[in-house]
Amino acid sequence: MPTLAEIEVTATACTACQLAATRTTVVFSRGRPAARLMFVGEAPGRDEDLEGAPFVGRSGKLLDRLVEEEMGLHRDDYYVANVLKCRPPNNRDPLPGEIEACAHFLDDQIALVGPEVIVTLGNFATRYLLGTSEGITRLRGRSHHFRDGIVVVPTFHPSAALRSGGAVVADMRADLVRAKRALSS
Ligand code: URA
Repeated sequence: MPTLAEIEVTATACTACQLAATRTTVVFSRGRPAARLMFVGEAPGRDEDLEGAPFVGRSGKLLDRLVEEEMGLHRDDYYVANVLKCRPPNNRDPLPGEIEACAHFLDDQIALVGPEVIVTLGNFATRYLLGTSEGITRLRGRSHHFRDGIVVVPTFHPSAALRSGGAVVADMRADLVRAKRALSS
């Protein structure tokens, strides 16, 4: 099995889908490579495409703040990656063929980081990991068993919390408390 650094080098040169033509940067990961906790989002947005790291824009700042407040963890304590490593133009939804072409990078990241708990952010990450077409509203609110004994805790994407506020933020906080409990059990 290659190392995370080797996989990142491969991803950086990837042209397996059309997003290679419009990306600025391949966005591989941020955070701690041996983390017990991992977050998986959808795809880089504008800020991430420019900076080359996931969740560095407004959504990421909200995520880091909620994790600090509910789990007592700093952004360097966990590992963050997306299903897609390249930004879809105008932040459109990922296409099935793009997910198919790209998700092997995420599979390798999960295998190499070996987290105990993965928090999936929004529909695309949750559906990919749990292999379902069910929506996030039905999937969140409980823990799911994933392969290799990993617990998956689905929650809303922080951009939904930025759009809708109150109730979504409260649900995200509850999901993060659930993730914290899964970590310490
Ligand atoms: N939204 C995502 O899903 N991932 C990012 O990295 C940024 C915004």
